[in-house]
Amino acid sequence: MRAARAAMKNAYAPFSHFKVGAAILTSKGDIFAGCNVENSSYGMTNCAERTAIFSAVAAKGPELEIVAVAVTNAQGVPCSPCGACRQVIYEFGPEAVVFYQGQDGDAESSIKELLPEGFRLR
Ligand code: THU
Repeated sequence: MRAARAAMKNAYAPFSHFKVGAAILTSKGDIFAGCNVENSSYGMTNCAERTAIFSAVAAKGPELEIVAVAVTNAQGVPCSPCGACRQVIYEFGPEAVVFYQGQDGDAESSIKELLPEGFRLR
């Protein structure tokens, strides 16, 4: 969560003004962080979670195994990973635990709870 908070400060969110930071912990003990990066063509926006995961793959290669994910936002409002990010987390961490701010404060869910019947080809 500390790494997620630090990355959040680098968010590029001039359109939503909603800054998000995320960090993943890998099975090797590495932590990779990311922030949301928006775009004038709104649909091109990349969420903090996917930024963190794609950075990890770019740095360490495709054998990535995600153990845990932390998500935070600058507004202090409930914010769990979006559907697209849940699918990307599932690809690299079907057993991952996700820490985020839920409707009743700090929350912790398995990715399988957040994404039942997640899709995986391998
Ligand atoms: N966003 C994230 O980065 N992660 C989330 O879990 C929820 C949404 C970003 C996308 C967009 O830049 C902004 O928050 C508002 O949707």
